[in-house]
Amino acid sequence: MSILIRGGLVVSATGSASADVLVEGERVAALAAPGTPAADSWAALADTVLDATGKYVIPGGVDVHTHMQLPFGGTFASDTFETGTIAAAWGGTTTIVDFAVQSKGASLLAGIESWHAKAAGNCAVDYGFHAILSDVNEAALKEMDAAVAAGVTSFKMFMAYPGVFYSTDGEILLAMQKAKANGAVIMMHAENGIAIDQLVAQALAQGHTDPVYHGLTRPPQLEGEATSRAIALAEVTGAPLYVVHLTASQALDAVAEARDGGQNVFAETCPQYLYLALEDLAKPGFEGAKYVASPPLRPREHAAALWKGLRTNDLAVVSTDHCPFCFKDQKELGRGDFSKIPNGMPGVEHRMDLIYQGVVAGKISRQRWVELCSTTPARMFGLYGRKGVIAPGADADIVVYDPDAQQTISAATHHMNVDYSAYEGMEITGRVETVLSRGALVVRDGAFHGRPGHGRFVPRGLSQYLV
Ligand code: URP
Ligand code: ZN
Ligand code: ZN
Ligand code: ZN
Repeated sequence: MSILIRGGLVVSATGSASADVLVEGERVAALAAPGTPAADSWAALADTVLDATGKYVIPGGVDVHTHMQLPFGGTFASDTFETGTIAAAWGGTTTIVDFAVQSKGASLLAGIESWHAKAAGNCAVDYGFHAILSDVNEAALKEMDAAVAAGVTSFKMFMAYPGVFYSTDGEILLAMQKAKANGAVIMMHAENGIAIDQLVAQALAQGHTDPVYHGLTRPPQLEGEATSRAIALAEVTGAPLYVVHLTASQALDAVAEARDGGQNVFAETCPQYLYLALEDLAKPGFEGAKYVASPPLRPREHAAALWKGLRTNDLAVVSTDHCPFCFKDQKELGRGDFSKIPNGMPGVEHRMDLIYQGVVAGKISRQRWVELCSTTPARMFGLYGRKGVIAPGADADIVVYDPDAQQTISAATHHMNVDYSAYEGMEITGRVETVLSRGALVVRDGAFHGRPGHGRFVPRGLSQYLV
């Protein structure tokens, strides 16, 4: 099977050029300038020709932060690997990296195995895993080597959620020493969970039970403090550090200072922190529960700092932290006690579109859009070459994007398995038109043509950002 994508503007992290793209089987075979003899000969031979005139042709999105079926707060994230990867495909994301959880008292490798069992045969697009290291002990530290060898080359740790995922500074230090030795990346959820839990208990004791108190009891200073502490631990151990879902200007300042000092520190943010704010958490009638995630949505001014960070590269990646819980039957668990609202928001379907609004508004270039959503995440997490780029030999994960289409985001039309949209009614410019996943047309003409089981596990190499 060969597919020719003709007449589009191929946008990469480094520039844009008019080019025809030939796909043979699962891979990109060649690119050629339109009208050249090579391109004309492909048009005669290709099994399928897609007209991309007036459209952008970009490498498929790489979302390095999702939580399909995550157990949290007595329930499970509502997207399965099947529904979540179908929604990802609709939104132009052709690779996800999900977090395999090590349960307390269990082995790290058993956690990864159980995530394989959930995902295998069910994914519509390719997938990889990070591992959540929640029980640091001698055996788990040893298992980190085997995980790296099996293509799980990054480990998330938590300075938040005491009693659940939380690790002490000493445990973090040990894991960072291991990562320094085996080339893995430590990803950090940087919030001071010990202090936060005191504020949560005080708020509840005063009868403050509404969702907004989720935000008010997790002040941005405690994200800044934890980020600084993680950076210090990384500096002492010499390990690279990747700060996940960064929301607060205090945390961004700490990352920028470390980077200016030459330290291998990186950070991601997520669309919800760029477009939503604390006032959404304060919506009346328990509506705010829709917006409960950790770290919490911040007062508006933080978003301006985050957009600046996306331009200066102090924020190098945009992921979603996709972790959906239905409003009706799951967020409801925390009515009367905000601390029982399952943490997380849906987003895997709209990352490419939402960050494209930064291009529309003149905040970032279209090259930067591709870099933040596809190329850098692929390079950061050992996927680059196969993913994150349209070049001969790369997996044919390609999106034809209509930069001028208008659409309205709504739960009525999205494909995520969740009963609300955090962006309900938002009118945006740009739309995913066609999606190829390893050469298979999975979205075309407003219909899904993929299948669960097409997506394969991608063992990842080491980060390209190691020194
Ligand atoms: O609220 C969130 N972010 N839920 C998912 C788990 C995590 O901390 O990433
Ligand atoms: Zn987290
Ligand atoms: Zn997360
Ligand atoms: Zn539900």
